[in-house]
Amino acid sequence: MLQLDITGTLAKIITPSLGIPENDIATIKNTLKSYMEDFLREREAGNHAWALSPYDRETILAVEDVAERVRKSKIETILWIGIGGSSLGPRVIKEVFETSETPELIVIDTVDPAVIAAELSLVDWQRTFVVIASKSGETLEPAAVFFIIEEKMRQALGEKAAERIVAITDPKEGMMKEYADSKGYETLPITPGIGGRYSIFTPIGLLPLALLRADIGAFLRGAKEMDTVCQDADLSHNPAAQLAAVQFLLDTKRDYIIRVIMPYATRLQSLGRWEQQLLAESLGKTEAYGPIPLAGIGTQDQHSMLQQWIQGRRLTWHLFIREEEKERVTIPDVPMAELSYLSGKGLGQVLDALYEGTTQSLTAAKRPHATITLPRLDEYHLGQLFFLFMVEVVLLGKLYRVDPYGQPGVEMGKRIAKDILSRGA
Ligand code: PA5
Repeated sequence: MLQLDITGTLAKIITPSLGIPENDIATIKNTLKSYMEDFLREREAGNHAWALSPYDRETILAVEDVAERVRKSKIETILWIGIGGSSLGPRVIKEVFETSETPELIVIDTVDPAVIAAELSLVDWQRTFVVIASKSGETLEPAAVFFIIEEKMRQALGEKAAERIVAITDPKEGMMKEYADSKGYETLPITPGIGGRYSIFTPIGLLPLALLRADIGAFLRGAKEMDTVCQDADLSHNPAAQLAAVQFLLDTKRDYIIRVIMPYATRLQSLGRWEQQLLAESLGKTEAYGPIPLAGIGTQDQHSMLQQWIQGRRLTWHLFIREEEKERVTIPDVPMAELSYLSGKGLGQVLDALYEGTTQSLTAAKRPHATITLPRLDEYHLGQLFFLFMVEVVLLGKLYRVDPYGQPGVEMGKRIAKDILSRGA
């Protein structure tokens, strides 16, 4: 089980005026207990549909079926077209599980013509499989790119192209479902009621796992075990409630309005971006308060942002994510006296030392920080991590009194772009 350590946020460590006093934790405990009960009641009444997605057997079978077909067709490249919640989760899965033994998963979440032209010029269309992922089926960017790719597939494969295209979309609503059915493309469902950023346990996360031959069972087991843990009424045993408490108190009582999410694992770089979307779109709905998420990465951002975090304006608090078990890559004997302390050390030890350096210097500067430690970065612990963050954001919705679903603020921009394009050349 992953571990959350919030000690570095507490008043006893970084002084009462800058950290969270024990009293505040004790007070919020009861509020969160009743919010957790509400969450469970609401789930039973049919809300928070994403929380049941790890239990959906039918979807797992459908996903495995598609992956088996791809394996048999000796596919080398998968073009995954989607954006926002339909691309950030798949990016995490690519970064963690893609190897030289698996097909290459190319996530296309841009309409930048230079990038698309460059990507597509390298594709062997005979060995390519296409996934169009869009819950609404109506998002401009993936639709625009999809029709370019679909045409190329048809030019290369003719009628057989239909066997190499899958659409992940709402099973009932939206134009993509209708279009895919009319063309004979297989479709995989995102259960109604599950929005993009909550869809990691639907085919949006499960299909890339299966295509990259990762263990879906372990991923979902991790999620389900985290589900059980996150139902614990005792805050000290419930990491989602604990993280929500720390987030809320640091923001509303101590004005740390920016939450920096900083994995010390390069393979989790996109997880920071995924979590950034989850927080921003779910909670950024009132001018009064709410976390401003900022995705960082260790150790690189020690050399770009840390200066400001240690001595600059006191607005950030820091959530680190690290993996305990690391690959052993050893530094040989170093022939320079000043650097001889590196001789024989593993790169993992270097990474750990730099993480310690950052957290200890934040503590010395009386800046709050917490850490999530994964025993290892695998399917099981990744499933736990995703589930933990989604429960946390629901509890935060209740604490901040905002609806964590929907993103009405982004609709106008989409409408304007559509109007401009509809006016013709
Ligand atoms: O979280 C959300 O619902 C959004 O950010 C969507 O993921 C994003 O807008 C893409 O939408 P769709 O999957 O419908 O194309």
